[in-house]
Amino acid sequence: MSAPTSAIESVLVENRVFPPSDAIVKAARVSGMAGYEALCAEAEKDFEGFWARQAQGNLQWTKPFTRTLDESNAPFFQWFADGELNASANCLDRHIGTATENKTAIIFEADDGTVTKITYKELLARVSQFANALKAHGVAKGDRVLIYMPMTIEGVIAMQACARIGATHSVVFGGFSAKAVHERIIDAGAVAVLTANYQMRGGKELPLKAIIDEALAMGGCDTIRNVFVYQRTATACNMVAGRDKTFAEALAGQSTECAPVAVGAEHPLFILYTSGSTGKPKGVQHSTGGYLLWAKMTMDWTFDLRSDDVFWCTADIGWITGHTYVAYGPLAAGATQIIFEGIPTFPNAGRFWQMIERHKCTIFYTAPTAIRSLIKAAEADETVHPARSDLSSLRILGSVGEPINPEAWMWYHKNVGGERCPIVDTFWQTETGGHVITPLPGATPLVPGSCTLPLPGITAAIVDEMGNDVPNGAGGILVIKRPWPSMIRTIWNDPERFKKSYFPEELKGYYLAGDGAVRSADRGYFRITGRIDDVLNVSGHRMGTMEIESALVSKTDLVAEAAVVGRPDDVTGEAICAFVVLKRSRPTGEEAKQIANELRNWVAKEIGPIAKPKDIRFGDNLPKTRSGKIMRRLLRSIAKGEAITQDTSTLENPAILDQLAQTN
Ligand code: WTA
Repeated sequence: MSAPTSAIESVLVENRVFPPSDAIVKAARVSGMAGYEALCAEAEKDFEGFWARQAQGNLQWTKPFTRTLDESNAPFFQWFADGELNASANCLDRHIGTATENKTAIIFEADDGTVTKITYKELLARVSQFANALKAHGVAKGDRVLIYMPMTIEGVIAMQACARIGATHSVVFGGFSAKAVHERIIDAGAVAVLTANYQMRGGKELPLKAIIDEALAMGGCDTIRNVFVYQRTATACNMVAGRDKTFAEALAGQSTECAPVAVGAEHPLFILYTSGSTGKPKGVQHSTGGYLLWAKMTMDWTFDLRSDDVFWCTADIGWITGHTYVAYGPLAAGATQIIFEGIPTFPNAGRFWQMIERHKCTIFYTAPTAIRSLIKAAEADETVHPARSDLSSLRILGSVGEPINPEAWMWYHKNVGGERCPIVDTFWQTETGGHVITPLPGATPLVPGSCTLPLPGITAAIVDEMGNDVPNGAGGILVIKRPWPSMIRTIWNDPERFKKSYFPEELKGYYLAGDGAVRSADRGYFRITGRIDDVLNVSGHRMGTMEIESALVSKTDLVAEAAVVGRPDDVTGEAICAFVVLKRSRPTGEEAKQIANELRNWVAKEIGPIAKPKDIRFGDNLPKTRSGKIMRRLLRSIAKGEAITQDTSTLENPAILDQLAQTN
């Protein structure tokens, strides 16, 4: 378990409480703690009946389900399994013939500030046309499609079009390397790639198609028949005759009507790869029915969505947050949402605040990392301070991806929320599909730094290593005791790993989240203390230490051994720190700097720039026990710059600690 950061330590004494105002409580969908508790009681009393009613009320089924939960093959739980539906029909067609059909579905703001709007009706036509193009190229129900696209309306269309024909998408974040793309194509057995020639970020044109070409050239991708390329910019890119087509070419002549393909509720809507505690990323497989139910329901519960809201989730579609709260949830709920192509600091660090004003955003959902970096920017330059923008349209703020330290929470509350907007600190994971522990804006009294209480029906608990409940105030392992509709179904191609990673035997069949947590003694509020496995959270992105270590040691001409740990960082939450033993003598000074840079670039090429270690230190060897195990807790202390207070008597080579403590 990684040690708590100083920011998190300060939560231990957190006693400020911010209850929602009477006006907010009165107007909310889930009104006051009484409203929340009534839902919890309903779910507890009649667990399956509760979810059955939610699924019937929130989704449109082409064939109704007769069985809610099937636990016979636990932990491979099935929800609504004999029901049939289509995810895209539940996001688009359902609004046709209602007041929502001519409502703006997406307000797209490009990197350069150009704004494009699209209504639900127009979006349905474009998704249908794209679905027809995929069908015309032989993509069918059950096929896997890899999506490597920028934040654009076309990215959402690509995902929705796959869903429409029952193809399972696997979106890969545009910052991942060719090697990462290659691995994912092969693991998923994808038949097509949807990409763009370039992406625009911060005024720069960055290649996407070239990376796909590089990945396909690595070999073994025989399942891929077509690559479809959205021409985001005017710059030409390499096109392989017979295999590659532009979106425009593929769409030419295709009808804008396409009947949605009904699939079973358990049909895999998507696979999304995420880091775990081994070197190989896990293909988290989600269902159609349970997942979509959650996406829709949490829009209503957590964001208290109203018909006139302008919702903005800043996450990229390459991450789970961009799946649930960009590509599916807002559309299923009929919201108007903002999609932003660029980065928060271009053309200046006031971009988010200016965009909230420009589009009259009412619900704003972002990551603590972004908030912390914008605090720094606003402190350094008054002209990008949120006070310079009119943020009076806002009514709810959200935070996701990592613990939010109370200092950042208070700044967000005061400077962005004008002390009137509830902040929902939503705890969840790729595996949970959507929020699981979060305040409800019109109910829960807020405590900065706490994700407060589980959603109704979520049996979250904190247990010890044997699965026994620990009392409030004592830290332990976060679990969820009973299944819930949007939970991970399996790891693609690896059901054994699914069982071992998430349902270890000693935990009584509970779902193991992989985070440590503690509940407050007074309110029983949850506070997440960080991952308990070898997963780091850098700027809200999950990175496996083993993945980075494998990348480093794959530079076989240079690296003999590597160990990677996290250390606290003011802006990114955690920073990646690598300890490296070279095959040659330990470098110092300029040479060390130059090799460290070479290794950073290597990791960027192997995984992606987000995995570049911030610190790289060289040693003659690594601190190991006599049995050869690397003592990571010592490395964590060294990375933090702490004095070593732990017992080092089992260490084979204690002198190494001083050497590693020296920065180069
Ligand atoms: C962390 C992102 C504290 C946690 C949605 C989890 C959080 C991991 C919070 C999942 C939060 C996410 N407070 N920690 N509100 N939200 N985390 O899969 O460690 O990218 O296990 O999903 O992020 O990251 P993932």
